[in-house]
Amino acid sequence: MMSKQNEQTPNVASNKVNLDELIKQMTLDEKVAQLIQLAVPFYEGAHGDGLITGPMDSLGIKEETVHNSGSVLGIAGAEEVINVQRTHLNYNRHGIPLLMMADIVHGFKTIFPVPLAIGCSWDMDLAEKSAEIAAKEAAVSGVHVTFAPMVDLVRDPRWGRVVESTGEDPYLNAEFSKAFVRGFQGKDLANDMDRVAACVKHFAAYGAAEAGRDYNTVDLSDRQMREFYLPAYKAALDEGCEMVMTSFNTVDGIPATGNSKLMRKLLREEWGFNGILISDWGAVRELIAHGIAADESEAALKSIKAGVDIEMMTACYVKHLSELVENKEVDEALIDEAVLRILQLKEKLGLFENPYRAADPVREKEIVFCEEHREVAQDLAIKSCVLLKNNDVLPLKRDHKIALIGPFAANNDVLGPWSWTGAKEDAVTLATGMNNKLSGHGQLLVAEGCGIETGTKEQWQAALEAAQDADIIVLALGEHSDMNGEAASRADIRLPHIQLELVRKLKELDKPMVAVLFNGRPLDLHGVYEEADAILEAWYPGSQAGSAVAELLFGDANPSGRLVMSFPYSVGQVPVYYNAYNTGRPQGAPDAQVRYVSQFLDIPNEPLLPFGFGLSYSDFEYSAAQLSSDVITVEESIKVTVTVTNKGSVAGVETVQLYVRDMSGEVVRPVKELKDYRKVALQPGESKEIEFVLSENQLRYYHSDLTHDSDAGAFVAFVGPNSKSNTALPFRLEK
Ligand code: BGC
Repeated sequence: MMSKQNEQTPNVASNKVNLDELIKQMTLDEKVAQLIQLAVPFYEGAHGDGLITGPMDSLGIKEETVHNSGSVLGIAGAEEVINVQRTHLNYNRHGIPLLMMADIVHGFKTIFPVPLAIGCSWDMDLAEKSAEIAAKEAAVSGVHVTFAPMVDLVRDPRWGRVVESTGEDPYLNAEFSKAFVRGFQGKDLANDMDRVAACVKHFAAYGAAEAGRDYNTVDLSDRQMREFYLPAYKAALDEGCEMVMTSFNTVDGIPATGNSKLMRKLLREEWGFNGILISDWGAVRELIAHGIAADESEAALKSIKAGVDIEMMTACYVKHLSELVENKEVDEALIDEAVLRILQLKEKLGLFENPYRAADPVREKEIVFCEEHREVAQDLAIKSCVLLKNNDVLPLKRDHKIALIGPFAANNDVLGPWSWTGAKEDAVTLATGMNNKLSGHGQLLVAEGCGIETGTKEQWQAALEAAQDADIIVLALGEHSDMNGEAASRADIRLPHIQLELVRKLKELDKPMVAVLFNGRPLDLHGVYEEADAILEAWYPGSQAGSAVAELLFGDANPSGRLVMSFPYSVGQVPVYYNAYNTGRPQGAPDAQVRYVSQFLDIPNEPLLPFGFGLSYSDFEYSAAQLSSDVITVEESIKVTVTVTNKGSVAGVETVQLYVRDMSGEVVRPVKELKDYRKVALQPGESKEIEFVLSENQLRYYHSDLTHDSDAGAFVAFVGPNSKSNTALPFRLEK
């Protein structure tokens, strides 16, 4: 237990601090201590007096290490942050403030939809706004850095972390990546106290874990990496993202955290990234389990050489780096560089001037979870839901007797993973949202029917009674939020068995049935897709869940979300994604044989629902799309035009999508690649002409020698409402 020291004035280094000078004054051990990141329980002041010594023992570190450490993980709350910082500064002889970091992923207290859902909005402005609000709430609560955005490209819905990503398309992912960074950091991080520094993660290709099993091997060609996986990280850095986090997986045989080719050569040298690179939780020490380090010392050696500045939650650096420097195995300049980057971010954030930055318990109460923020969360939730099926049963009629049945009927587990600062009690359940809509006039019968994974006879009986009495059944089904996120891979991605049983039994009543799904991954929808007359994919919509979904169900808002990840026909197809290659024996080609083609004998090749898909209460009609010329050159772009008409009776938003296929690449090219899109709002009967400009630079790709260029030859443009249904327009590139 450490003694309490002067509590009055924090011993902060002067704002005119010369960082190089400061580094010179630090001992080697003090410098190395800046490189460890520990979680809140290691810090005195967080929850009262006295350091909890247990965690220190578990890592085998000394008290001085904590006093000289550089950053804290998982901290939030103005008072807690102020206490920890003040106490820390009283112990730290150089007056170097701590950087406060936390996972503020899709909201702080005002929780927005999960990132996979935000992806389905295809709305960069709202995505940016959500990050801006998250930053504002986090900053006033004392956070300096968020471990977001997570921009891992995903193709395997078995992986629980697909919920944190914006999907399977490199172009959209890069756009979202930039939007999130802009929202978190703003234009002037140094002076805008309502913003936080962003840390893009997980570098690199964490989303390609074999079999979707978390932390598993990733082995991709350099070309695959550059074409699909790297663009979104690069986009974040182009937008000025301050930090990068390593991933847990191997990249070409070497775990990312010890991978010099990836970190030193690509990230630092080729991309010129000069900010802080932090390991993921425990990832430095994990080099031992991976089998590229015999012990903690070697793990430290490989990680610092690879370019990792901060070691999160293990102590290989603080236990071994000083010795490695003394033995001349590590150049002290590497340590100095890492420390400098950490101090530079502290300086940029103004912490030497004001170590508490925006932390303010009074303002915190005004800003956090305020109505204005919740309105944006609701708007984004409405735009993130995807209508997957509708046989004329939605929108619901207010004078109908509605039975709301299922484990998510009145469940507040709707925030999704990474909402640790949010409160489930504050979330609007579907029952509340629907009741508010009916404002006491309608008839809503609510019954659970079963739990998420188990059920009782009584639950079933109550549900049956409600259903028998109703004109229409709304089923609220889904996955527990813990079935998604980190370490939450599933091999069977159907709804839990008990819920499928509920659907089956209710189906026997032969009443119209709507399913609303609360989940974090594309599911295998067998057992509900055929049975339900309508399906609304709500994902985890966040704080305003019930209100947002009720708006859509009753037709006060029109569904406009579009899938950013394919829904597989069954798990046996996985990975199944729209931007795949064709094979030499594709199904359906004019000369295709019956048997010897690339296909499954027992299921279709196509996913159940493709990328870009989503229905609306409006009917959008596309005119024949046209090209301004069938030749494109380096100098001359071409225009792609199409007229879209709302043939329905309600206003709606269509997402018009432009794809391209290169018919004669140097390497094989995807059957379709998204190049652009427009969200178009149309009143009933209204038409709008949409114009895309397609330029040569959009036709470039990574060749076998990794050059990024286009090839003269044949191409096809596709315009339409999703990656499957669209009109093909051939053109040529002349160079
Ligand atoms: C996760 C990261 C996260 C970190 C800190 C790790 O387990 O992989 O995404 O930022 O913990 O909470």
